[in-house]
Amino acid sequence: MQWRMTETSTIRRADAAAIEEAAALLRAGALVAFPTETVYGLGADATNGLAVARIFEAKGRPRFNPLIVHVANLDEAERLAELDDRSRQLARRFWPGPLTLVLGKRPDCPVAELATSGLETVALRVPAHPIARSLLEFAGVPIAAPSANRSGHVSPTTAQHVAADLGGAVAMILDGGPAEHGLESSIVDARGRRLVLLRLGAVTRGEIEAAAGETLETRLAADELRPSAPGQLESHYAPRAAVRPGATSVAGGEALLAFGSDVPAHEGPMINLSPSGDLREAAANLFAALRALDRPGVSAIAVVPIPGEGLGEAINDRLRRAAAPRG
Ligand code: TXA
Ligand code: MG
Repeated sequence: MQWRMTETSTIRRADAAAIEEAAALLRAGALVAFPTETVYGLGADATNGLAVARIFEAKGRPRFNPLIVHVANLDEAERLAELDDRSRQLARRFWPGPLTLVLGKRPDCPVAELATSGLETVALRVPAHPIARSLLEFAGVPIAAPSANRSGHVSPTTAQHVAADLGGAVAMILDGGPAEHGLESSIVDARGRRLVLLRLGAVTRGEIEAAAGETLETRLAADELRPSAPGQLESHYAPRAAVRPGATSVAGGEALLAFGSDVPAHEGPMINLSPSGDLREAAANLFAALRALDRPGVSAIAVVPIPGEGLGEAINDRLRRAAAPRG
Protein backbone atom coordinates (compact mmCIF):
# COMPACT_ATOMS: atom_id res chain seq x y z
CA MET A 1 0.00 0.00 0.00
CA GLN A 2 1.23 3.43 -0.87
CA TRP A 3 1.04 4.89 2.64
CA ARG A 4 3.48 2.23 3.80
CA MET A 5 5.99 3.40 1.25
CA THR A 6 5.73 7.02 2.28
CA GLU A 7 5.38 6.56 6.01
CA THR A 8 9.02 7.14 6.95
CA SER A 9 9.80 9.73 4.29
CA THR A 10 7.47 12.27 5.95
CA ILE A 11 9.33 12.11 9.29
CA ARG A 12 11.74 15.00 9.73
CA ARG A 13 14.11 15.80 12.54
CA ALA A 14 12.67 19.02 13.92
CA ASP A 15 15.52 21.46 13.31
CA ALA A 16 14.80 25.14 12.60
CA ALA A 17 14.63 24.61 8.83
CA ALA A 18 12.12 21.76 9.16
CA ILE A 19 9.95 23.75 11.57
CA GLU A 20 9.92 26.73 9.21
CA GLU A 21 8.97 24.47 6.32
CA ALA A 22 6.25 22.87 8.45
CA ALA A 23 4.89 26.33 9.31
CA ALA A 24 4.72 27.23 5.60
CA LEU A 25 2.90 23.95 4.88
CA LEU A 26 0.38 24.74 7.63
CA ARG A 27 -0.23 28.24 6.26
CA ALA A 28 -0.81 26.67 2.84
CA GLY A 29 -3.55 24.44 4.27
CA ALA A 30 -1.60 21.18 4.64
CA LEU A 31 -1.48 18.88 7.66
CA VAL A 32 1.61 18.71 9.86
CA ALA A 33 2.08 16.36 12.80
CA PHE A 34 4.16 17.74 15.65
CA PRO A 35 5.26 16.81 19.15
CA THR A 36 3.70 18.37 22.20
CA GLU A 37 4.57 17.62 25.83
CA THR A 38 1.44 15.43 26.05
CA VAL A 39 1.13 13.43 22.79
CA TYR A 40 1.76 14.13 19.10
CA GLY A 41 -0.79 16.43 17.46
CA LEU A 42 -2.19 16.41 13.92
CA GLY A 43 -2.14 20.10 13.12
CA ALA A 44 -3.98 22.32 10.66
CA ASP A 45 -4.46 26.09 10.41
CA ALA A 46 -7.49 26.48 12.72
CA THR A 47 -8.77 29.45 10.70
CA ASN A 48 -8.92 27.43 7.46
CA GLY A 49 -12.04 25.26 7.30
CA LEU A 50 -10.74 23.17 4.41
CA ALA A 51 -7.51 22.41 6.23
CA VAL A 52 -9.48 21.43 9.34
CA ALA A 53 -11.64 19.13 7.21
CA ARG A 54 -8.47 17.32 6.17
CA ILE A 55 -7.86 16.44 9.84
CA PHE A 56 -11.14 14.55 10.04
CA GLU A 57 -10.44 12.88 6.72
CA ALA A 58 -6.94 11.77 7.80
CA LYS A 59 -8.07 10.48 11.19
CA GLY A 60 -11.10 8.70 9.78
CA ARG A 61 -13.15 10.30 12.53
CA PRO A 62 -16.67 8.92 12.55
CA ARG A 63 -18.05 12.36 13.41
CA PHE A 64 -16.97 15.96 13.54
CA ASN A 65 -16.19 16.44 17.20
CA PRO A 66 -14.63 19.74 18.31
CA LEU A 67 -10.85 19.99 18.27
CA ILE A 68 -8.37 21.58 20.64
CA VAL A 69 -6.96 24.83 19.27
CA HIS A 70 -3.32 25.53 20.16
CA VAL A 71 -2.20 29.12 20.60
CA ALA A 72 1.17 30.74 21.27
CA ASN A 73 0.33 32.52 24.50
CA LEU A 74 -2.37 34.02 26.72
CA ASP A 75 -2.68 37.18 24.58
CA GLU A 76 -3.47 35.04 21.56
CA ALA A 77 -6.07 33.15 23.63
CA GLU A 78 -7.68 36.47 24.59
CA ARG A 79 -8.02 37.29 20.88
CA LEU A 80 -10.07 34.14 20.30
CA ALA A 81 -12.06 33.65 23.49
CA GLU A 82 -13.62 35.36 26.48
CA LEU A 83 -11.56 34.85 29.61
CA ASP A 84 -12.51 35.95 33.11
CA ASP A 85 -10.30 36.34 36.20
CA ARG A 86 -10.61 32.69 37.15
CA SER A 87 -9.71 31.35 33.70
CA ARG A 88 -6.80 33.81 33.49
CA GLN A 89 -5.57 32.54 36.82
CA LEU A 90 -5.66 28.94 35.54
CA ALA A 91 -3.96 29.99 32.30
CA ARG A 92 -1.19 31.80 34.18
CA ARG A 93 -0.63 28.81 36.43
CA PHE A 94 -0.65 26.07 33.76
CA TRP A 95 0.29 27.69 30.44
CA PRO A 96 2.41 26.80 28.66
CA GLY A 97 1.40 23.28 29.65
CA PRO A 98 -1.09 20.42 29.48
CA LEU A 99 -4.31 22.17 30.55
CA THR A 100 -7.03 22.87 27.97
CA LEU A 101 -9.67 25.48 28.81
CA VAL A 102 -13.12 25.45 27.21
CA LEU A 103 -14.13 29.10 26.87
CA GLY A 104 -16.77 31.19 25.14
CA LYS A 105 -15.76 32.22 21.61
CA ARG A 106 -15.38 35.92 20.96
CA PRO A 107 -17.81 37.17 18.31
CA ASP A 108 -14.88 37.92 15.98
CA CYS A 109 -13.10 34.62 16.67
CA PRO A 110 -11.40 33.59 13.40
CA VAL A 111 -11.40 29.86 14.20
CA ALA A 112 -13.25 27.83 11.55
CA GLU A 113 -16.70 26.56 12.58
CA LEU A 114 -15.64 23.02 11.75
CA ALA A 115 -12.86 23.16 14.37
CA THR A 116 -15.43 23.92 17.06
CA SER A 117 -18.28 21.85 15.58
CA GLY A 118 -20.28 25.03 15.29
CA LEU A 119 -20.30 25.45 19.09
CA GLU A 120 -20.27 28.82 20.84
CA THR A 121 -17.21 27.58 22.71
CA VAL A 122 -13.59 26.90 21.84
CA ALA A 123 -11.08 24.61 23.60
CA LEU A 124 -7.70 26.37 23.91
CA ARG A 125 -4.29 25.46 25.16
CA VAL A 126 -0.75 26.83 25.00
CA PRO A 127 1.59 23.84 24.58
CA ALA A 128 4.90 23.78 26.43
CA HIS A 129 6.94 21.72 23.98
CA PRO A 130 9.62 23.92 22.37
CA ILE A 131 8.94 22.47 18.89
CA ALA A 132 5.20 23.13 19.21
CA ARG A 133 5.94 26.63 20.45
CA SER A 134 8.23 27.56 17.60
CA LEU A 135 5.84 26.00 15.09
CA LEU A 136 3.09 28.29 16.45
CA GLU A 137 5.42 31.25 16.31
CA PHE A 138 6.53 30.62 12.70
CA ALA A 139 3.01 29.76 11.52
CA GLY A 140 1.45 32.85 13.10
CA VAL A 141 -1.98 31.18 13.15
CA PRO A 142 -3.80 29.15 15.82
CA ILE A 143 -3.32 25.43 15.17
CA ALA A 144 -6.20 22.97 15.54
CA ALA A 145 -4.67 19.66 16.56
CA PRO A 146 -6.24 16.50 17.85
CA SER A 147 -3.99 13.61 18.78
CA ALA A 148 -2.29 12.33 15.61
CA ASN A 149 -3.75 8.82 15.60
CA ARG A 150 -6.43 7.19 13.54
CA SER A 151 -9.82 7.46 15.21
CA GLY A 152 -10.32 4.81 17.89
CA HIS A 153 -6.61 4.13 18.30
CA VAL A 154 -4.49 5.13 21.30
CA SER A 155 -2.72 8.49 21.08
CA PRO A 156 0.78 8.58 19.52
CA THR A 157 3.73 9.38 21.75
CA THR A 158 6.42 9.08 19.06
CA ALA A 159 6.80 10.23 15.43
CA GLN A 160 6.90 6.55 14.41
CA HIS A 161 3.45 5.97 15.96
CA VAL A 162 2.14 8.85 13.85
CA ALA A 163 3.72 7.45 10.68
CA ALA A 164 2.26 4.01 11.38
CA ASP A 165 -1.26 5.47 11.82
CA LEU A 166 -1.36 8.35 9.37
CA GLY A 167 1.64 7.91 7.10
CA GLY A 168 0.99 9.50 3.72
CA ALA A 169 -1.99 11.56 4.95
CA VAL A 170 0.29 14.19 6.47
CA ALA A 171 2.66 16.52 4.64
CA MET A 172 5.30 16.33 7.38
CA ILE A 173 5.85 14.70 10.76
CA LEU A 174 8.17 16.71 13.00
CA ASP A 175 10.15 14.30 15.15
CA GLY A 176 10.85 15.52 18.67
CA GLY A 177 11.43 12.15 20.32
CA PRO A 178 9.07 10.51 22.80
CA ALA A 179 6.42 12.75 24.39
CA GLU A 180 7.16 13.73 27.97
CA HIS A 181 3.78 13.16 29.65
CA GLY A 182 2.30 10.50 27.37
CA LEU A 183 -1.25 11.48 28.35
CA GLU A 184 -3.39 14.13 26.67
CA SER A 185 -4.07 17.48 28.30
CA SER A 186 -6.66 17.75 31.05
CA ILE A 187 -9.75 19.65 29.84
CA VAL A 188 -11.70 22.06 32.05
CA ASP A 189 -14.84 23.96 31.08
CA ALA A 190 -14.22 27.35 32.66
CA ARG A 191 -17.42 29.13 31.64
CA GLY A 192 -19.92 28.31 34.36
CA ARG A 193 -20.27 29.08 38.05
CA ARG A 194 -18.37 25.87 38.80
CA LEU A 195 -15.32 24.58 36.92
CA VAL A 196 -16.11 21.30 35.17
CA LEU A 197 -13.49 18.63 34.45
CA LEU A 198 -14.26 17.21 30.98
CA ARG A 199 -11.18 15.03 30.51
CA LEU A 200 -8.65 13.62 32.95
CA GLY A 201 -5.13 14.16 31.66
CA ALA A 202 -1.57 15.21 32.36
CA VAL A 203 -2.51 17.79 35.00
CA THR A 204 -4.14 16.10 37.98
CA ARG A 205 -7.48 17.01 39.49
CA GLY A 206 -5.65 17.94 42.71
CA GLU A 207 -3.31 20.37 40.92
CA ILE A 208 -6.21 22.14 39.18
CA GLU A 209 -8.27 22.33 42.38
CA ALA A 210 -5.30 23.76 44.29
CA ALA A 211 -4.75 26.45 41.65
CA ALA A 212 -8.43 27.35 41.37
CA GLY A 213 -9.18 27.21 45.08
CA GLU A 214 -12.36 25.25 44.38
CA THR A 215 -13.39 21.67 43.76
CA LEU A 216 -14.08 20.46 40.24
CA GLU A 217 -17.35 19.11 39.03
CA THR A 218 -16.72 16.11 36.76
CA ARG A 219 -18.41 15.40 33.45
CA LEU A 220 -16.16 13.02 31.52
CA ALA A 221 -16.98 12.32 27.88
CA ALA A 222 -18.54 8.89 27.40
CA ASP A 223 -15.97 7.52 25.02
CA GLU A 224 -12.84 8.89 23.44
CA LEU A 225 -10.91 5.80 22.44
CA ARG A 226 -13.75 3.86 20.87
CA PRO A 227 -15.18 4.51 17.43
CA SER A 228 -18.85 5.42 17.67
CA ALA A 229 -19.96 2.99 14.99
CA PRO A 230 -18.73 -0.40 13.82
CA GLY A 231 -16.90 -0.66 10.53
CA GLN A 232 -15.32 2.78 10.78
CA LEU A 233 -11.81 1.44 11.17
CA GLU A 234 -9.83 0.75 8.03
CA SER A 235 -8.96 -2.86 7.39
CA HIS A 236 -5.22 -2.27 7.44
CA TYR A 237 -5.57 -2.13 11.18
CA ALA A 238 -4.23 -5.20 12.91
CA PRO A 239 -6.99 -6.77 15.01
CA ARG A 240 -6.71 -5.07 18.35
CA ALA A 241 -6.31 -7.12 21.51
CA ALA A 242 -8.84 -6.74 24.31
CA VAL A 243 -7.66 -4.93 27.43
CA ARG A 244 -8.25 -6.47 30.87
CA PRO A 245 -7.47 -4.06 33.71
CA GLY A 246 -7.19 -5.09 37.36
CA ALA A 247 -5.59 -8.43 36.48
CA THR A 248 -3.85 -10.35 39.26
CA SER A 249 -2.88 -13.30 37.05
CA VAL A 250 -2.28 -13.79 33.34
CA ALA A 251 -3.91 -16.38 31.07
CA GLY A 252 -2.28 -18.19 28.13
CA GLY A 253 -2.36 -16.01 24.99
CA GLU A 254 -2.46 -12.82 27.01
CA ALA A 255 0.23 -10.16 27.18
CA LEU A 256 1.03 -8.54 30.52
CA LEU A 257 1.17 -4.84 31.29
CA ALA A 258 2.80 -4.57 34.70
CA PHE A 259 3.43 -1.74 37.16
CA GLY A 260 5.72 -1.71 40.18
CA SER A 261 7.62 -4.60 41.66
CA ASP A 262 4.69 -6.94 42.23
CA VAL A 263 4.62 -8.67 38.82
CA PRO A 264 2.42 -11.77 38.27
CA ALA A 265 4.20 -14.81 36.84
CA HIS A 266 4.02 -14.79 33.04
CA GLU A 267 5.85 -16.43 30.11
CA GLY A 268 4.63 -14.29 27.17
CA PRO A 269 5.10 -10.65 26.12
CA MET A 270 5.41 -8.26 29.05
CA ILE A 271 6.08 -4.58 29.57
CA ASN A 272 6.47 -2.92 32.95
CA LEU A 273 5.15 0.66 32.86
CA SER A 274 7.35 1.58 35.81
CA PRO A 275 9.27 -1.04 37.79
CA SER A 276 9.79 1.52 40.57
CA GLY A 277 6.05 2.30 40.77
CA ASP A 278 6.32 5.89 39.49
CA LEU A 279 2.96 7.07 38.05
CA ARG A 280 4.59 9.80 35.97
CA GLU A 281 6.84 7.28 34.26
CA ALA A 282 3.86 4.92 33.84
CA ALA A 283 1.78 7.64 32.15
CA ALA A 284 4.61 8.47 29.77
CA ASN A 285 4.96 4.79 28.78
CA LEU A 286 1.27 3.84 28.68
CA PHE A 287 0.26 4.38 25.03
CA ALA A 288 3.53 3.08 23.57
CA ALA A 289 3.20 -0.04 25.72
CA LEU A 290 -0.40 -0.67 24.62
CA ARG A 291 0.71 -0.36 20.99
CA ALA A 292 3.72 -2.62 21.49
CA LEU A 293 1.71 -5.38 23.21
CA ASP A 294 -1.11 -5.27 20.65
CA ARG A 295 0.46 -7.83 18.34
CA PRO A 296 -0.88 -10.75 16.37
CA GLY A 297 -1.41 -13.80 18.59
CA VAL A 298 -2.13 -11.72 21.69
CA SER A 299 -5.79 -12.22 22.61
CA ALA A 300 -5.84 -9.71 25.45
CA ILE A 301 -3.60 -7.39 27.41
CA ALA A 302 -3.86 -8.11 31.14
CA VAL A 303 -3.10 -4.98 33.16
CA VAL A 304 -2.21 -5.20 36.84
CA PRO A 305 -4.10 -2.88 39.23
CA ILE A 306 -2.69 0.65 39.13
CA PRO A 307 -3.14 3.03 42.09
CA GLY A 308 -5.84 5.66 41.50
CA GLU A 309 -4.27 8.72 43.08
CA GLY A 310 -2.66 11.62 41.19
CA LEU A 311 -1.93 10.72 37.57
CA GLY A 312 -3.23 7.22 38.33
CA GLU A 313 -6.77 8.59 37.95
CA ALA A 314 -6.12 9.50 34.29
CA ILE A 315 -4.20 6.27 33.61
CA ASN A 316 -7.08 4.18 34.95
CA ASP A 317 -9.55 6.28 32.93
CA ARG A 318 -7.66 5.49 29.71
CA LEU A 319 -7.45 1.78 30.58
CA ARG A 320 -11.18 1.63 31.32
CA ARG A 321 -11.92 3.21 27.93
CA ALA A 322 -9.51 0.87 26.15
CA ALA A 323 -11.26 -2.07 27.86
CA ALA A 324 -14.81 -1.01 26.98
CA PRO A 325 -16.63 -3.13 24.36
CA ARG A 326 -15.65 -2.15 20.82
CA GLY A 327 -18.02 -0.71 18.26
O1 TXA B 1 -2.95 16.81 24.80
C1 TXA B 1 -3.79 17.19 24.00
O2 TXA B 1 -4.75 17.90 24.32
C2 TXA B 1 -3.60 16.75 22.53
C3 TXA B 1 -2.37 17.46 22.00
C4 TXA B 1 -2.14 17.22 20.56
O3 TXA B 1 -2.45 18.83 22.29
N1 TXA B 1 -4.78 17.05 21.76
C5 TXA B 1 -5.92 16.33 21.90
O4 TXA B 1 -6.95 16.74 21.06
O5 TXA B 1 -6.04 15.42 22.67
P1 TXA B 1 -8.22 15.83 20.70
O6 TXA B 1 -8.89 16.50 19.55
O7 TXA B 1 -7.81 14.41 20.51
O8 TXA B 1 -9.14 15.98 21.91
C6 TXA B 1 -10.24 16.84 21.81
C7 TXA B 1 -11.04 16.79 23.07
C8 TXA B 1 -12.29 15.99 22.88
O9 TXA B 1 -12.59 15.26 24.07
C9 TXA B 1 -13.33 17.06 22.65
O10 TXA B 1 -14.59 16.64 22.97
C10 TXA B 1 -12.82 18.17 23.55
O11 TXA B 1 -11.43 18.12 23.39
N2 TXA B 1 -13.26 19.49 23.10
C11 TXA B 1 -12.76 20.23 22.10
N3 TXA B 1 -13.45 21.38 21.94
C12 TXA B 1 -14.40 21.37 22.88
C13 TXA B 1 -15.44 22.27 23.24
N4 TXA B 1 -15.64 23.41 22.61
N5 TXA B 1 -16.23 21.92 24.26
C14 TXA B 1 -16.03 20.76 24.94
N6 TXA B 1 -15.07 19.87 24.64
C15 TXA B 1 -14.28 20.17 23.63
MG1 MG C 1 -7.51 11.89 20.77
